[in-house]
Amino acid sequence: MTEQATPFWIAGKQVTGTDSYEVRSPYDGRLVATVSVPTEEQVEQAVAAAAAVAKETADQPAYRRAAALDHVSRRIAERAEEIAALITAENGKPLKWAKAEVGRAVSVFRWAAEEARRFNGELQRLDTDANAAGRTAITRRFPRGPVLGISPFNFPLNLVAHKVAPAIAVGAPIVLKPAPATPLTALLLGELLAETDLPAGSWSVLPVPNDRMAALTADPRLPVVSFTGSGPVGAMIQAEVPHKHVTLELGGNAAAVVTADYSAEKDLDWAAQRIATFANYQAGQSCISVQRVYADRAVYDRLVEKVVAAVEAQKTGDPADGATDVGPMISTAAAERVQAWVEEAVGAGATLLTGGGRDGASYEPTVIAGAPAHSKVVVEEVFGPVLVLHAFDGVDEAVRLVNDSQFGLQAGVFTNDLHTAFRVHRDLEVGGVIIGDAPSFRADQMPYGGVKGSGVGREGVKYAMEDYTYERVLVLTGIDL
Ligand code: SIN
Repeated sequence: MTEQATPFWIAGKQVTGTDSYEVRSPYDGRLVATVSVPTEEQVEQAVAAAAAVAKETADQPAYRRAAALDHVSRRIAERAEEIAALITAENGKPLKWAKAEVGRAVSVFRWAAEEARRFNGELQRLDTDANAAGRTAITRRFPRGPVLGISPFNFPLNLVAHKVAPAIAVGAPIVLKPAPATPLTALLLGELLAETDLPAGSWSVLPVPNDRMAALTADPRLPVVSFTGSGPVGAMIQAEVPHKHVTLELGGNAAAVVTADYSAEKDLDWAAQRIATFANYQAGQSCISVQRVYADRAVYDRLVEKVVAAVEAQKTGDPADGATDVGPMISTAAAERVQAWVEEAVGAGATLLTGGGRDGASYEPTVIAGAPAHSKVVVEEVFGPVLVLHAFDGVDEAVRLVNDSQFGLQAGVFTNDLHTAFRVHRDLEVGGVIIGDAPSFRADQMPYGGVKGSGVGREGVKYAMEDYTYERVLVLTGIDL
């Protein structure tokens, strides 16, 4: 164990283990920090502490939970520059996007404080049938128990916030396991949580290696597992713990649709700009980054020209430079995979309109047209700075193309027609439809999650609070409303 390794958090206390590993910048390989890894015994301490404190956290009054959440929100805002720089260092995310992520986390904790204050329950009259005359029901939600939160590398702060803040809001202890590539921001968040008076044991941050996760996931003292990450790992978790309450935020191959009515010059400029930006933000490593672009044949050629120009205008390079739009992917291996998928599509007849080059972990913003329907860049989640363009004829065909996917997270539809907006909302098999923008739009209080291979359950503070709790009804006899 090296003295300088960044400690982790067990039951609100900083601790080091016997082992450590290095976190390096995906951009230039420089050492960002060495991180201490918990031993099996330390993991056990964290889980035991979470189980032991569960009743106390559930009984904590709302004002105390809200105060802790408000405090964390304020402190993230105060340390925003430092946190954004850390996200950029460990993840390679351009500083401008790291700052945006920090701002979102401020809002997630603030929302959680507000939701904690209004987490009330429901009064229901039961005297609707003679046999229940004089009875009234009150339904309140209670924590299912301690939560195991498993977060991904692509939002090292905000997707941690989406696990931790709702747990605090409902009074559920949480054991958080950050992504091995990006544990530092979650460990820094621990510093802010440690400033609150949340009961000891109510939160731990454990950088447990992935290959040691099976026992933790199966631990019966953690009845809720909230996972964000890849489809195969999500499926494995669900199969391993079928009796637990598992929420899965998995991948997608998000589509943007541009309809024939969206033909004014300013409309196409906007659509092209948003598509180019959100196919490439954080190097395409978002579950809702634009991957498939479907444009009505009436606007296709004009859109393609504008999209290619907007993609070529994206500034690539050092993520620490505030002007950089697109930085590296998380690793060279990830960029090599994307390169292989693009080459496969081009080999099968697709046209490379721009991009296609790689330098280490950095993959050029890439646009492809005419990729065969079965190619990986169409059917799999690319999770890289690549978009594929297709023409369609009419909204029926667009709906069919978007739905022809194993995934269903979000879709963006550029239309000015209210009827089309309602129609696609009804017919697209996704968790969210964004009208007039890319599928990548997310406000952190809205329900967020998918159907099909994109997962089960919803985040968005209030919705995760529902997932972390269950209804318990109280029937009162002799109470007339
Ligand atoms: C994700 O990649 O699933 C999260 C996207 C977001 O929060 O913007």
